[in-house]
Amino acid sequence: MKRVLLIIGGGIAAYKAPDLVRQLRAQGLAVRCLLTKAAEQFVSPLSLASVSGDKVYENLFDLTDEAEMGHIQLSRDAELILVAPATADLMAKAAQGIANDLASTTLLATDKPVMLAPAMNVRMWKHAATQRNLAQLKTDGLHFVGPEEGDMACGEFGLGRMSEPSEIAARAAALLGGADAPLLRGAQAPLLKGKKVLITAGPTHEPIDPVRYIANRSSGKQGYAIAGALAAMGAEVHLVSGPTALADVAGVKMHRLETADEMYAACHALLPVDIGVMTAAVADWRPDVCADQKLKKTETGLPDLALRENRDILASLGASDKKPELLIGFAAETHNVEAFARDKLARKNCDWIIANNVALDSGIEGGVMGGDENAATLVSQNNVEAFGQMSKTETAQKLAEHIAGYFNSRKTS
Ligand SMILES: Cc1cc2nc3c(=O)[nH]c(=O)nc-3n(C[C@H](O)[C@H](O)[C@H](O)COP(=O)(O)O)c2cc1C
Repeated sequence: MKRVLLIIGGGIAAYKAPDLVRQLRAQGLAVRCLLTKAAEQFVSPLSLASVSGDKVYENLFDLTDEAEMGHIQLSRDAELILVAPATADLMAKAAQGIANDLASTTLLATDKPVMLAPAMNVRMWKHAATQRNLAQLKTDGLHFVGPEEGDMACGEFGLGRMSEPSEIAARAAALLGGADAPLLRGAQAPLLKGKKVLITAGPTHEPIDPVRYIANRSSGKQGYAIAGALAAMGAEVHLVSGPTALADVAGVKMHRLETADEMYAACHALLPVDIGVMTAAVADWRPDVCADQKLKKTETGLPDLALRENRDILASLGASDKKPELLIGFAAETHNVEAFARDKLARKNCDWIIANNVALDSGIEGGVMGGDENAATLVSQNNVEAFGQMSKTETAQKLAEHIAGYFNSRKTS
């Protein structure tokens, strides 16, 4: 059984720690708790001992603890160190290498992967010092889950709420991966080794004549980022891409093409796959006829641009007897985002829909299409989870961890 050392910092969200312990154990993980002095004000060691079924550690200079389980041993004895809630104070100490209590000494003494779930007031989170510490910790290879936006215990609203215990537990389990996948700090474990992935990305170009075409604003950035994140987890990734300005993704098999028809054929030729992630903005229609020669502007008026419908790639994969085990569609909508996503989930027989609000007034600089940020929502049969506004690379990483978590929970169940 994989072991997690849960360091609980002194924030209000510490009251969720017993629930988090339960959720981690439900993921098949053994949990040992370490409380900071401040955390003891918010949650009782006794309740944590009962839910974890283990001794709770609090004091650096407890002689019995040092004899039985010293701070170095404590940091080595777990496959993952999870800090939740991660206070601004703990983040600052970890970023600076300060070791003046059991929690911070343990964090400095470990060579195991560390995941933090920050929780604090929005102003503390947005403070330049915290953001500096966050950047440093990311550079040092520590993993993060959250924080989320929402109502806070202090009565304010904003970014700084700790992610839900179920989300933290799922991300921790995903990071730990299978029994044959030991994690190296700062590196991605081969959580998806042996899985074949089909990803589509970018727009398609539907020719009108040899020089003109119908297209859309998709840049392909989100699909390329997902391809990179899944390849880093050891999957065999095939990226079927419409025309984009992006470079090939390292470690990914690229299939570059132009039209929706070509994309349909390329996707079906790659089956069977374990995972399908269909991010491409495939043109719904194409000109009924593509002229052999460039259409000329004439006195007689406008050219006759009759359209015909393209085949629906996502729906065809959902209906295929070779349907990927996990089929994920993307929904780019300008309004009623979640309702349309639910409808698409059912109509196209996919397992998850990642819904994006691509309205030009979505608040995202440069818009979702073409820009570097996204605010995606994962919609499945029983769940809706807003990822929050973040870079496309972070969105890709988050989705990749959900995918790894899905396959990991199937392996352990
Ligand atoms: C009622 C109360 C609530 C607090 N909530 C938080 C919090 O949510 N996040 C945080 O970073 N600090 C919070 N603090 C401040 C920390 O408790 C304080 O910085 C403490 O030194 C953290 O110690 P630790 O990091 O060793 O747990 C809170 C303090 C009080 C009195």
